[in-house]
Amino acid sequence: MKGFVIGKPLDTESVIFCNEIGNLSEIPDWINMNSDYTEFTIKLEDDDVVFGLGESLHGMNKRGFKYVCLNTDQPLHTEDKDSLYGSHNFLVIDSPSGKKGIFVDYPAKTVFDIGHEKRDVLKVIVEEPLYKLYVLESDSSNELVKEFRKAIGKSYKAPLWGFGYGQSRWGYRAAEDIENVVRNHRDNDLPLDSVYLDIDYMEDFKDFTVSSERFPNFADFVKKMKKENIHLIPIIDAAVKKEDGYEVYEEGTNKGYFCKDKDGKDFVTAVWPGRSLLPDFMNPAARKWFGDKYKILTDLGIDGFWNDMNEPALFYSDASLSRAAEELSHLGDELETLNLDRYWHYLDLVRDLSNNKEDYESFYHDVNGMKVRHDRIHNLYGYNMTRAAAEAFKEIAPGKEMLIFSRSSYIGMHRYAGIWTGDNCSFYSHIKLLISQLPGLNMAGFLFVGADTGGFGHHTSEELLMRFMGLSLFTPLFRNHCAIGCRDQEVYRFERINDFRNILKLRYALIPYLYKIYSDSIENDDMMFRPLAFEYPDDADARLVEDQLLIGDFMITPVYEANAKGRYVYVPEKMKLFIMRSNDDYDVSVIEKGHYYLNADINEIPIFVRGDKDISEYLTRPANSTAEL
Ligand code: GLC
Repeated sequence: MKGFVIGKPLDTESVIFCNEIGNLSEIPDWINMNSDYTEFTIKLEDDDVVFGLGESLHGMNKRGFKYVCLNTDQPLHTEDKDSLYGSHNFLVIDSPSGKKGIFVDYPAKTVFDIGHEKRDVLKVIVEEPLYKLYVLESDSSNELVKEFRKAIGKSYKAPLWGFGYGQSRWGYRAAEDIENVVRNHRDNDLPLDSVYLDIDYMEDFKDFTVSSERFPNFADFVKKMKKENIHLIPIIDAAVKKEDGYEVYEEGTNKGYFCKDKDGKDFVTAVWPGRSLLPDFMNPAARKWFGDKYKILTDLGIDGFWNDMNEPALFYSDASLSRAAEELSHLGDELETLNLDRYWHYLDLVRDLSNNKEDYESFYHDVNGMKVRHDRIHNLYGYNMTRAAAEAFKEIAPGKEMLIFSRSSYIGMHRYAGIWTGDNCSFYSHIKLLISQLPGLNMAGFLFVGADTGGFGHHTSEELLMRFMGLSLFTPLFRNHCAIGCRDQEVYRFERINDFRNILKLRYALIPYLYKIYSDSIENDDMMFRPLAFEYPDDADARLVEDQLLIGDFMITPVYEANAKGRYVYVPEKMKLFIMRSNDDYDVSVIEKGHYYLNADINEIPIFVRGDKDISEYLTRPANSTAEL
């Protein structure tokens, strides 16, 4: 891997091992750079497949679309969107004749047009010529990714219990709600390792507080849950409530640890707690201060966290709200003359309050004494929030493996934590989306990953949840999570509870094997989930497969359509096929290379095994929590 430094960029600390830094004149000629280094193109051949971009939309082959790497609180993952929560600017151009890789290490808005405007042109556009460009070349995509992964450092390793099943829901308000979830799992012999605490556990959505009314003795409650082999995993949001008397707010203000506006005053935004301030995670002292706050909860027995709203999400700011209020005050004068353009103008005024570009351009960080405008480092915010926690854990709980994952991310954060893919929906297409995202995330170093199983937004169905679990049972993070107001989604709410139990038992029987592949992938800088193209590069059919994945000795082929009795699959070599109904109920057959329609009812999980082994060699006895494994 060779790096090129354009201008004097800020150090993102993404790449930590790269000795080869070249002169700009040595940028390889397959990259056509424009004269001011803000734009370059790469010619794509007809058969080139482009993999990567981590958490992004569309298929596994990124070709044909435009992507904007700009971390965004985006709760609707539909095809018209360009950005999600993370920016992972690494991709591989897989040509039959050779593989090329690029990493555009730039922490602000980066556009990747991958054959959208012109099918044979990949175009990258940055805002300013201040970035590092890394290029890689290899005969093998696997080797190329490994080289990149070595350069960005070893991925975060989650504890084994992090592979246990987790139940979550925005709306569990009190200790009784949590106990109820645990009871329903234990009484119905449904495996469970963790219950997540969403914002409702806090006092008025204030970070590092626990509602004393709804959790009267939290430390005892945590202990009681531990006895049941349940870990409680609270959410921590990036923004801190602006409220006199609230310790975190007062301390942070006194120490000057919040982001400032252009006049040096604290920048006031609003998120769940109402008016809030943003900790300046780019400032090492502020990072240490915020990280140390996690001790408040680890002292109460907590050993896992999820960091949220850290793009950062801004519902509105004092400035944007007063601008909008001022304009809206004229609406009354237009009652009789309002035309459609004006109507839309007023509508947009309110809609655009959230995550507004002007807001992101109006606050500042202290980066080693330098005042840096937020939009120039935007994609590093969640990364550094999560790093704050992970660095603090080393001191708070030395030697202890903590579970931590974040919504927003950038390459580099993979050394500190995992991620979940944010607010998906109860859509079949979002099962497919996760299949596409997994290899890209692994390429970028994110191995502890998973999606809101069953879907976060919208209302799930029994069939959708079961199909979703047919994929999530292979992902490191296996969490059922949904939004407030949506249909209840815990597995015990549905009629086919036996089938859900069987799927969970299968997961637990697979955990030792999955955890081994996961750990080996970290150790060897490998991907845990690989596209078929990476393993069968000379097989033209395999190169185009978008909805199957290789994981360890397995090939998985999740069903992601409603009312399906199965799906079409491509088998790239002779394999054994196990149709799993539970850990000890399955059919086996041997399948030759070829295209097939595979029958798989909604409670059946197909697992193809490469090689001669029987599935039983990958399974251990099932358990109801990882503590029993
Ligand atoms: C965000 C998170 C979601 C969480 C909600 C409330 O939308 O992505 O997981 O449930 O906030 O905290």
